[in-house]
Amino acid sequence: MRLRDKVAIITGGSSGIGKETAKRLADRGTKTVLLARDMAKLDAARNEFKDRTRVTAVQADVTDRNSLKSAVAQVVAAHGSIDIVVNCAGSGYFGPVVEMTEEAITKLVRTNVFGPVLMVQESLEALKRSRGTIVNISSGLSKRALPYLSVYGGTKAMQDQISDGLRMELRDTGIRVLSYGPPATDTPFLDVSAPDTRSRMSSFVKLAKPQDVAARIVKAIEGDKREVNEGGFLKAMNFFAPGVLDTLFYKWMVRKPKT
Ligand SMILES: NC(=O)c1ccc[n+]([C@@H]2O[C@H](COP(=O)([O-])OP(=O)(O)OC[C@H]3O[C@@H](n4cnc5c(N)ncnc54)[C@H](OP(=O)(O)O)[C@@H]3O)[C@@H](O)[C@H]2O)c1
Repeated sequence: MRLRDKVAIITGGSSGIGKETAKRLADRGTKTVLLARDMAKLDAARNEFKDRTRVTAVQADVTDRNSLKSAVAQVVAAHGSIDIVVNCAGSGYFGPVVEMTEEAITKLVRTNVFGPVLMVQESLEALKRSRGTIVNISSGLSKRALPYLSVYGGTKAMQDQISDGLRMELRDTGIRVLSYGPPATDTPFLDVSAPDTRSRMSSFVKLAKPQDVAARIVKAIEGDKREVNEGGFLKAMNFFAPGVLDTLFYKWMVRKPKT
């Protein structure tokens, strides 16, 4: 896909992977729209772009259909079309399943599952007109559970299923659906749910740079794959030896050191 002069909305565009993906898309000549809830963070992100004429910001909450409806209408009024929707806004949680509150589970499901679906529904007419591209940012953890991250990973597994379903359901419209599952990446995402998430994650995996992940996402958008998932090692091990993985992750993440 040629990106020059395409119109791209990136939900979660004010931070981390979404912000870096938006910058990379703008460098390739897209008209880039950042979408998130906090206007101050959106403005700060916009100031980081090399060419600020290629980027605008729109405030919306992906869990709120009306705010997405209004955001999509604003983008269509300003640019005339929408060619690419990157569903990157996401919410994380690190902690034992047995201690999760209903509020914490609801927040994950509303942001990571309802959010991308509502965004697709609200931008569908514009995407049909442009025969555009939907990019759902999943996770390497969608293919294999880790301790303390399985409810989050479960929302991403659900997102993968939805991407697969959409791809078949929308085939006649010419809309492409790409699912991209990044690896553990060094962004503010790792600080939100539990104070020690970053140190616990980085004890067993090298965190990727958001700029590098963004470069790979944009390469995938330019290519023709249906899915890229960077949880390759986990996925392969889970297929051949899931019990070995259980034991490894129990030892790395759950078992208390003997005193
Ligand atoms: N970092 C990782 O290790 C990692 C690994 C694999 C996959 N991912 C996935 O990659 C995506 C981006 O993660 P990240 O690491 O870049 O996170 P991040 O730096 O924390 O950024 C999250 C973005 O989502 C926005 N957001 C959150 N809730 C929203 C809502 N209800 N409505 C609109 N915007 C909302 C945030 O802005 P506001 O708070 O202002 O709304 C922010 O712009 C997520 O879907 C995540 O699941 C991350």
